[in-house]
Amino acid sequence: MNDLGRLEDLPQGYRDALTERNLVPLWPSLRGVLPPTVPTRHTQPTCWPYASIKPLLLQAGELTPIEKAERRVLVLANPGHGLEKMQASPAIYLGMQLLLPGEWAPSHRHTPNAVRVIVEGESAYTTVDGEKCVMQRGDLILTPSGLWHEHGHDGDAPVVWLDVLDLPLVYYMEASYHINGSRQAVQPGRGEVAYAQGGMVPTVDFERADKPYPMLRYPWAQARAALLALAADRPDQPMVQITYTNPETGGDAQNILGFYAQMLRPGQTLTLPVRSPAMVFHQIEGGTAVAIGDAAFQLGEADTCCAPGYTAITLRNASATAPSFLFIADEAPLHRKLGVYERRG
Ligand SMILES: [Fe+2]
Repeated sequence: MNDLGRLEDLPQGYRDALTERNLVPLWPSLRGVLPPTVPTRHTQPTCWPYASIKPLLLQAGELTPIEKAERRVLVLANPGHGLEKMQASPAIYLGMQLLLPGEWAPSHRHTPNAVRVIVEGESAYTTVDGEKCVMQRGDLILTPSGLWHEHGHDGDAPVVWLDVLDLPLVYYMEASYHINGSRQAVQPGRGEVAYAQGGMVPTVDFERADKPYPMLRYPWAQARAALLALAADRPDQPMVQITYTNPETGGDAQNILGFYAQMLRPGQTLTLPVRSPAMVFHQIEGGTAVAIGDAAFQLGEADTCCAPGYTAITLRNASATAPSFLFIADEAPLHRKLGVYERRG
C-alpha cells in the first residue's frame, strides 16, 4: 500500500490557510477513516461485573435523592470511546438503574429507544404508554421512541435494572431530546397476554392491531421456556437462541438495536459468526466464559460485557449441569437498514 502524504509534509503557511477557511486535506487522514479490510473500532472489549457496580449504585441511592436524579443510573461507559461519551459501543448506551422502595421516576418520553432488563428485586413496575409492566428478573421491557414511561416501586427492597438505549446514535444524529409529562392513567390490556402464544395474534373484527409497538413486556419466564423447548427439540443444533420481535410485523422489536436471548447447554462451547455489529452480553442465569478477540471475561449472574464488531467471539458454559442464559443486544437492525451488515465466516 502506498504511504500517503502526512500533514507535517505540508508547509505551515498552507496548513494555516486551510484552517482559516475551515478546510482540511483528506489524504493525511484517508487511511484512518477508510482502513484496509477491517474498520477502525474505538469500542474495547469491556466487562462490568455486577459486584463492582452494586455497592456504588446503592451508595448513589444514599447520596442523591430520586428528585435530584430523575433516573438514578450509573452508566457503563467504554473507555475506548472515552468515559465522558457514555457509550458502550457506537450505538449502544448501557446504564444500571436503581429504584428504591416507594420511589417514583416521573413520566417522560424521548426520541432514543430504550429497553430494560430486570437484574434484581421485586414489586417495581414501568408504565409504558398506559400499560403497567411488572418488572421481574430477566424480563425485557420496551420503552420505544416517543412513548411515555415512568417507573414505580411498591416493594421493600431495592430494584435494579439494566437500561439499553440507542442514545449514542440518536445523540450523534442531533435528534435526542425528551419531554416531561404527568402521571399516566393505566389502561386495560397487556401485550404480553395478547401475544403470549407464538404464531397467534389477537384480532378485532378480523383486523390486526395497528400499534407500532404492540408488545412492551417480554417475560423472562416465557423466553426461558422457549429456549429450553428449542434446545430439547433440536438437540443437534449448536445455537439455541431467540430474537425478540414485534409480534405483529415479525420484524425486530425496535428499529435500531436488536435483542436476543441465548442458552448455552451444560459444557457447551459456541463460536459466534464474525459480524459487523457491536454486541453486549448480559448474564441472566448461570455463567459464561466470553472470549472477545484477545480479551477474556468470566460472566456470572448480572454481569455485563461488550464486544466490538468484526471480532471473533467464543462463549463457553463451564458448568456440567446447568445451562447458561444470556441476554444479548446488538446493532444489527441498524447495520441492516444502512446496508453495512456483514457476516464473515
Ligand atoms: Fe426514559
